[in-house]
Amino acid sequence: MRIGILTGGGDAPGLNGIIEAAGKSLLRMGYEVIGIRDGFSGIFERRVTQLKWADLEGVHCLSGTVLGTTNRCGTEGREQEFLEKYLSLNLEGLVVAGGDGTFRGLEKIDPKVRVIGAPKTIDNDLLGTEITFGFDTACSVVSEAIDALKYTAQAHGRIILVETMGRTSGWIALGGGLVAYADAVLIPERPLQAAQLLKFLEGRQSQGSKGLVFAVSEGASLGTIESNDLQGTEGVSGRSKRVGGVSECLARWLEKETQWECRHVVLGHLQRARSPTTTDRFLTMTMGALIGRLVKEQKWNSAVVYRNGRVVPAPLSEIIGPPRLVSDDHRWVSLAQTLGIFV
Ligand code: F6P
Repeated sequence: MRIGILTGGGDAPGLNGIIEAAGKSLLRMGYEVIGIRDGFSGIFERRVTQLKWADLEGVHCLSGTVLGTTNRCGTEGREQEFLEKYLSLNLEGLVVAGGDGTFRGLEKIDPKVRVIGAPKTIDNDLLGTEITFGFDTACSVVSEAIDALKYTAQAHGRIILVETMGRTSGWIALGGGLVAYADAVLIPERPLQAAQLLKFLEGRQSQGSKGLVFAVSEGASLGTIESNDLQGTEGVSGRSKRVGGVSECLARWLEKETQWECRHVVLGHLQRARSPTTTDRFLTMTMGALIGRLVKEQKWNSAVVYRNGRVVPAPLSEIIGPPRLVSDDHRWVSLAQTLGIFV
């Protein structure tokens, strides 16, 4: 009756909500709840701690994860060692809140490691679920920034480019940009048409716009204007390529091509640093409670996902795969277009 719980990959607001809700529902059913530190590292290094009710109280409103996490999954090539270390913990199963990298890291692990997964990423790009927790909170950071920046942009007659996270997907820029009525939203899925953007800016100028704010996804493709001296920065984050710098490049290009003075703001990790919104709290609370039920019913190798307005169970394999991108015909794209937002 011992269940382990761990968080893996980049943090996302709501991880602590999963820990509190899953932990409390398991404790109420008489399980011992074992918190595993820093993702899979805690299993390899046997860094675990028993979680009591008092350890869980109130953590749902904190960003980050009280258990710690790591971007490096670390199971590859060490599957046998992982299994042995896991078995030595005498756990009946493992609750894992993580992203694609975390669940891929479990694919080659012996099925004796029984898992229930909660899909997590602010990027909202996991397969098998219509929404991931952390996304709504990230969008509210973006929309608040755009709302605020609009006034300084207008005061100085500038274009301010707000760079959002999201890696290869544009959900955060689109969701946050849309609700803040950003003037333009640039996302990786829709490579920039430079001539069309210039035409759009002429239109805004002729309609008397004083200052503009764009939401620019860190992975946005600048299309034909991308050249050697206009390239974003790249680094390595865990197993994946790190992107960024695109708003600065675009600001330089716009200043060359137009009369607008430009500035850029990179929101960066602020998008992950906020106490979860009500939406993210509902999502993680419901997911955590369902995790408790799935453990009780021994429905291992499941994930808790959001579909058609409800949190439901699904096979774990359904949340693993390539990133879920914004499609051309997504309703948010046409909504933006209806409102005159360049997208
Ligand atoms: O995948 C989540 C995410 O926040 C991306 O949006 C971003 O590109 C990346 O993680 C940043 O990673 P790190 O925290 O390692 O800099």
